[in-house]
Amino acid sequence: MSTFILMKILESAPSRYDRGIKMLTFGGVEKAYDNLVAPVKKGDTVLDIGCGTGALTMRAARKGARIKGIDINVDMLDIAKRRINDAGFSGTVEFYEMGVGEMDTLKTASYDVIMSGLCFSELTNDELRFTLKEVKRLLKPGGYFLLADEVIPENILFRVLQWLIRFPLVIITYIFTQTTTHAVRNITLKIRGIGFQIQSKKLSFLKSFIELTARKPEER
Ligand SMILES: C[S@@+](CC[C@H](N)C(=O)[O-])C[C@H]1O[C@@H](n2cnc3c(N)ncnc32)[C@H](O)[C@@H]1O
Repeated sequence: MSTFILMKILESAPSRYDRGIKMLTFGGVEKAYDNLVAPVKKGDTVLDIGCGTGALTMRAARKGARIKGIDINVDMLDIAKRRINDAGFSGTVEFYEMGVGEMDTLKTASYDVIMSGLCFSELTNDELRFTLKEVKRLLKPGGYFLLADEVIPENILFRVLQWLIRFPLVIITYIFTQTTTHAVRNITLKIRGIGFQIQSKKLSFLKSFIELTARKPEER
């Protein structure tokens, strides 16, 4: 559903972000996130890219993982920190105000899982390319990459439908935030392009929302 673009407006009022996303997607994103973290195990080291208010972070923390959440929006991070502290996970979760462009400061092959929800659609093409390169470097061999985001449907009919719904929302969002988002194009191909194996892929919301699990090959 192309209403994902309205998340940009919600981000400018982070205290309403979680409730807003739930309403916009009829709880669909919450369900998708519950499924997405399935590969996370107790003791895993996890990186959450564009963690926002910590929706995925919290789910991984409940499974006993140690998580680093990075984001450029301090107000979203403040909510995430409060949420994690209140739930008693402050010992296993750390948050950093950090853009994807700084991921090259993180240690090579140091994560069992890297995950990201609704952040890739906010990146520029250059940032997206750089981020995927870094995901490959930062994951341990056999590590999981978990992604949920808005994508451009492959089917032309769904693509036209997405454009028709999206267009007025782009204008409204731009008026409020002077920014927009970009549904991600060919993400499956891009992830295969860095040598990862796609383990599962689900499309919903008129084929415009992807839940994807990919794996970095084991070393031989
Ligand atoms: C729509 S929110 C999703 C937040 C969270 N992952 C979730 O699913 O609830 C997108 C997040 O990506 C962050 N973001 C956007 N561009 C970023 C960048 N270049 N580096 C790091 N975070 C970024 C935003 O600040 C925002 O918190």
